[in-house]
Amino acid sequence: MTELDRACAQFRTLLEEQQQRLAAMDTERVDLTKKPTVTVGLAGGDGIGPILMEQAERVLRHLLQAELATGAVVLKPITGLTIENRLAEGCSVPPSVLNEIRACDVFLKGPTTTPMGGTMESANVTLRRELDLYANVRPVAIPEEGIDWVFFRENTEGEYVLGSRGVELDGMAVDFKVTTDSGTRRIARAAFEHAVQNGKTRVSIVTKANIMKKTDGKFTAICHEVARDYPGIEVDDWYIDIMTANLVDPRIRNRFQVVLLPNLYGDILTDEAAQLRGGVGTSGSANAGDRYAMFEAIHGSAPRMIEAGLGDYADPRSILRAAAMLLRHIGRTAAAAQLEQALDACTVTVTGDTNGATCAAYTDALLKLL
Ligand code: IPM
Ligand code: MG
Repeated sequence: MTELDRACAQFRTLLEEQQQRLAAMDTERVDLTKKPTVTVGLAGGDGIGPILMEQAERVLRHLLQAELATGAVVLKPITGLTIENRLAEGCSVPPSVLNEIRACDVFLKGPTTTPMGGTMESANVTLRRELDLYANVRPVAIPEEGIDWVFFRENTEGEYVLGSRGVELDGMAVDFKVTTDSGTRRIARAAFEHAVQNGKTRVSIVTKANIMKKTDGKFTAICHEVARDYPGIEVDDWYIDIMTANLVDPRIRNRFQVVLLPNLYGDILTDEAAQLRGGVGTSGSANAGDRYAMFEAIHGSAPRMIEAGLGDYADPRSILRAAAMLLRHIGRTAAAAQLEQALDACTVTVTGDTNGATCAAYTDALLKLL
């Protein structure tokens, strides 16, 4: 077998897997607001994760006390999602941990560390794939500038679909980007539904369809097809390069409302957006599918803060924003709004070092506002 034959055979296997994924994709949505008991998992994660999650749990216990007492909501610790355990098991998300997570309806997750180099995949990417969490929803508001963006990033395909399983030939490496009809339709539907339900008037589709003609071309075409069901919503198209420029242009950036985009562009643009708001420590994120949903801060586990002994000064606002999104997702809208308002109102400064409040002190002040 020549090197080329081997590469073609590998390509064939990858395509067959993608066909199987596509065939299994359309699942029915579980309505958590109608479930008599909603189980909320709590995974501490690594680095500053457990420090943040301890405070997030205090806030959730406070807001949900009545429902925890009746059993309408159950909080369940997920213990195995740590870098130590994942390294010991040689697996980004060990099967037993995946089972723990699947026993919950939704979960709040502290940041998890991805080892640099080696072959271990990011736990986030594995969880998104295994639980089919196709909608990465990232709201970024800068009220003083009239900015209220919500990004709908496709979260399971595009450039992320294969992880580290691209094809290598002598002197050459090939990765793949995969865009499917159903995969695009469901994220587009989520974005337009969000727009309609939240009084938004515009959805902006962001691709690089002038270059990525097949994949991004399909993404744009399907988004426009879905848009036809939402005649009240204005739709515009942007290429990712000019869109990154738009976000730093104060003359036009507050015109964007809902932004709909493929995986990798969404990854990059949402870091830029969060930084404009004041840093990645300020934003929460939802990873939602039809069955499961995972909520997290958009930053990492901050090993440098831990090494410097500053873990207790970690900023809890991003995980608390994620907790508010979780509450909204399970239909606890009043509790979600209460938490969001308290986060907007809390004036305690957290700087990530001894110049600011600790994670716990911030939460003490926040709890007084709830
Ligand atoms: C994010 C992160 C992840 C991603 C990493 C941790 C794999 O950057 O959630 O945006 O690339 O999606
Ligand atoms: Mg990212």
